Amino acid sequence: MQLVDFEIQHNTRIAANTYRILLSPGSSIPPPAPGQFVNIQLEGRYLRRPISVCDWDGQTLTLIYKAVGEGTKQLAGYAAGQRLNLLLWLGNGYDYSRQGTGDRRQDVGSGQGTGDRRQDVRDREGELRDGEQDSPLATSFLPPDSSNIPCSLSHPTSRIPCLLPPPSSLLIGGGVGVPPLYYLAKELLRAGRRPVAILGFNRADEVFYLREFAKLCETIVTTADGSLGQKGFVTHAMESVGNYDALYACGPEAMLKAIYDQAAPLPPGRAQFSFERRMGCGFGACMACSCRTLAGSKRICVDGPVLAREEIIWE
Ligand SMILES: Cc1cc2nc3c(=O)[nH]c(=O)nc-3n(C[C@H](O)[C@H](O)[C@H](O)COP(=O)(O)OP(=O)(O)OC[C@H]3O[C@@H](n4cnc5c(N)ncnc54)[C@H](O)[C@@H]3O)c2cc1C
Ligand code: FES
Repeated sequence: MQLVDFEIQHNTRIAANTYRILLSPGSSIPPPAPGQFVNIQLEGRYLRRPISVCDWDGQTLTLIYKAVGEGTKQLAGYAAGQRLNLLLWLGNGYDYSRQGTGDRRQDVGSGQGTGDRRQDVRDREGELRDGEQDSPLATSFLPPDSSNIPCSLSHPTSRIPCLLPPPSSLLIGGGVGVPPLYYLAKELLRAGRRPVAILGFNRADEVFYLREFAKLCETIVTTADGSLGQKGFVTHAMESVGNYDALYACGPEAMLKAIYDQAAPLPPGRAQFSFERRMGCGFGACMACSCRTLAGSKRICVDGPVLAREEIIWE
């Protein structure tokens, strides 16, 4: 855990009330684990605000946050060049070390692998940066004018047929539970896994990072009102996903419970759920985030936010 000053590179709106902030640290820092979070200090506010790591490329940290209350609205007003103090890297993150590896020779999505997963991921990141044409997989559900994704999309379907053999790692995110799964998807690819993502939102104008996910893996989007992708909830989309041997979820607690109830039986530790709790200190000192689990009382900020299916008690 360390306190680090970052400089804001960009802080831009990417969907309804939703912002992406890119931050550069002033010094060299170790990489985060997927699912970890940072605690942001905001001028004039006693409590820091916890936000999940969405991406880290060795130089730039990406966070995506929804402006919901006073602190996050204040953050949305910050401009490039301003500095932010972050406490990092917090929490346990997702543990994908207990899984076997997938077939490294098979490229994700196109079926034409280079055999070097890191290179594949770098290639995809490069395409995203350069704004090059999407892969056929991605364009199969993105409208032609998708350069400003997300926002006012009304394309009827986003389901991409599964071109990959099982097993896969199923990633399910809802709303601002989506960001940590992006960095997780990249790390799973690096580890030779095949992520499949289900991203759930209320409406099309709330959708973000669909294009970015689609560059990495098979991606299904659902909206509650059907204005983009499959109509309904992420649990509806789960029915159409084939075999998976690991599951990682992040989002509202009601969504996590529905996923928990519907998930296929998996070996211990293979289904992991990331929880949000109101936090005080963010590093285990105040007990504000304590919750009951079958493994005893846990502080979500240090023993979580990720809990294994076997230890969760729903209250
Ligand atoms: C581990 C973790 C990761 C998170 N990751 C993200 C993310 O990637 N993107 C995102 O948009 N949001 C994320 N959140 C939720 C985010 O922390 C809250 O939306 C934010 O703190 C709200 O602050 P506010 O001042 O705008 O709201 P206010 O309601 O004014 O906040 C008042 C107080 O309550 C706390 N609080 C309010 N809502 C939450 C909440 N849902 N969870 C925890 N504390 C809360 C605030 O930190 C603050 O101390 C995460 C929360 C946790 C616990
Ligand atoms: S927020 Fe203080 S112990 Fe978790």
